[in-house]
Amino acid sequence: MSLLMLQKKIRELLKEKHAILLAHYYQRNEIQEIADILGDSLALSMEAAKTDAEIIVFAGVHFMAESAAILSPNKTVLLPKLEAGCPLADTITLEQMQMAKKEHPDATVVTYINSSAAIKAHSDVCCTSSNALTVVNALKDAKKILMIPDGNLARYVAASADKEIIAWNGYCPVHQVLTEGDVKQARTKYPYALFAAHPECSPAVLSAADFVGSTSAILKYAQKADVREIIVGTEMGILCQLEKHNPQKVFIPASKKMLCETMKKITLNDIWDALLEMKHVIKVPEDIRIPAKKALDRMLEIS
Ligand code: 13P
Ligand code: SF4
Repeated sequence: MSLLMLQKKIRELLKEKHAILLAHYYQRNEIQEIADILGDSLALSMEAAKTDAEIIVFAGVHFMAESAAILSPNKTVLLPKLEAGCPLADTITLEQMQMAKKEHPDATVVTYINSSAAIKAHSDVCCTSSNALTVVNALKDAKKILMIPDGNLARYVAASADKEIIAWNGYCPVHQVLTEGDVKQARTKYPYALFAAHPECSPAVLSAADFVGSTSAILKYAQKADVREIIVGTEMGILCQLEKHNPQKVFIPASKKMLCETMKKITLNDIWDALLEMKHVIKVPEDIRIPAKKALDRMLEIS
């Protein structure tokens, strides 16, 4: 079956089953093209919380589908490939989190959405890359924040926050791979370009950036920026939307190594099979789901 035919058949099956397809900007282009909602982690969790579709097919990684299942327990949430995990989410275990909490009993725990349901359940509030600073600033009574698991995001927030931030040292391997040297090389080749980076990048890379923001913030920045060339410091899947919405501009990946293998595990065929066979259903046990939902709801109220 051709790609176009498969896209068409998936759209038809989604309609027939009262299902919606949510896709992250790092997904394959052919999946982004047929999504009902394409967005960053925050936009996708907001949509998962409010949709009235009966079935949510999540083209993203496991924690995203899990967050949808936490927020919408009466819907069927399908993750087309179970192996599509997030290595950043795996950088902290519940035991490690409990130890960090014991070490800092007076800290409010702000957890990046890139985490397991169990970790969320033991957190005070969640955040995404687009609202992390807003969430931290909204915690008026908190003096000390334990931010897990992304150390780069935590250090980025700490630079502008009015509170003490204790950073867990997890990182996203896709963003960590980008070096100052890569940025210098790209700037030498494109001296008139601006450089936009995701806050999951290292502090050295972020200090070399003209703009720092989540995937959706980078998209907005690219549209407004009055330049022809932009060097992009995030996963390469974002290039599809950047190029689509700005045909007159040139986007240069800061490093071609910035590819999230787990995001790319999902194919159109997997989405077709998932809908046809109603797999893989993501469910969270109620004793974890209820406290995890509290942390997510608190974030959504602040956002
Ligand atoms: P955002 O979607 O918040 O930009 O985060 C990027 C990411 O790494 C998702 O896994
Ligand atoms: Fe996880 Fe990084 Fe991939 Fe996002 S890009 S899913 S944070 S490994």
